[in-house]
Amino acid sequence: MQEKIQQLTAEIENLRATAASEVEALRIKYLSKKGLISALFNDFRDLSVEQKKELGSSLNKLKDFATAKIQSLRDSVELAEDATAGIDLTRTPTPLKLGTRHPLSLVREEIIDIFRRLGFTIAEGPEIEDDWHVFSALNFAADHPARDMQDTFFIQRNPDVLLRTHTSSVQSRAMVNSEPPIRIICPGRVYRNEAISARAHCFFHQLEALYVDKNVSFADLKQTLLYFARELFGPETKIRLRPSYFPFTEPSAEMDISCNLCGGKGCSFCKHTGWVEILGCGMVDPNVLDACGIDSKVYSGFALGMGIERITNLKYQVNDLRLFSENDVRFLDEFKSAH
Ligand code: DAH
Repeated sequence: MQEKIQQLTAEIENLRATAASEVEALRIKYLSKKGLISALFNDFRDLSVEQKKELGSSLNKLKDFATAKIQSLRDSVELAEDATAGIDLTRTPTPLKLGTRHPLSLVREEIIDIFRRLGFTIAEGPEIEDDWHVFSALNFAADHPARDMQDTFFIQRNPDVLLRTHTSSVQSRAMVNSEPPIRIICPGRVYRNEAISARAHCFFHQLEALYVDKNVSFADLKQTLLYFARELFGPETKIRLRPSYFPFTEPSAEMDISCNLCGGKGCSFCKHTGWVEILGCGMVDPNVLDACGIDSKVYSGFALGMGIERITNLKYQVNDLRLFSENDVRFLDEFKSAH
């Protein structure tokens, strides 16, 4: 019997269970009325008084040990079941905070998409440019103030290497490098020597469109503008063109849209005029076509250019330009739902 007690003690010591049903099966195997330990107690009854004295306490210890072991198995199984109950096991242990797309990227993509539907393709040019592509080819007079250090960033005091002040420089590159028909849009960053404030910045973003072919007319420009404005600001949007001046277009105009906040009735956003300005445009000046190697007697074209910050302000009422480059996540998070 002594041997059996030792053998069962070792066996119980090593018991393991992962579910309540397994614990119950073990309890029945060792501790129930028909279990192994009860069987030993039955045998115990038939022993001599001497033997009973010798083995009684070991047998009681075995029973206590088995009872405690089964109870501890039951406790640990219950604890494990509690820990997994109601927990989403598919969750990542350290949740990643997702970023948002920058509002300027959102608006730029939207504008690109509209022009893509009209058959325009994207063209790009360098941000570090030369005087010819930014100014001379575009009909800027030799003494135009844009050529002044006060307005433009020059690189290493070299008057021929500068940061482009507008994306119109990509127009000159496209016209020099390809034959009509040319139908391109040029989104990109531009630089001007301005003090940073809510309304001005030393860098910002523009998007330019250029269409050169035979028989391109002002009516084509106007129709393109109307389509663009309605796609971007909604089908009720009205447009109006005001005569203006740019060296590289003749005639030139600035386009207003009916205020997208009040629908043209007049509000503080549109300074009670019902209209807000959104872009500059015009027919490509024949001097520009000729300077870029395109025969202005055969071809004509239109161009337009807009500030992406300006359009973003109109769409989302962000009226401090500095917010766009500070990368404050509280500001960027506000555009989550715009994706
Ligand atoms: N380049 C002009 C600017 O920076 C914007 C512009 C006006 C672009 C008229 C054009 C245009 O293509 O036709 O203010």
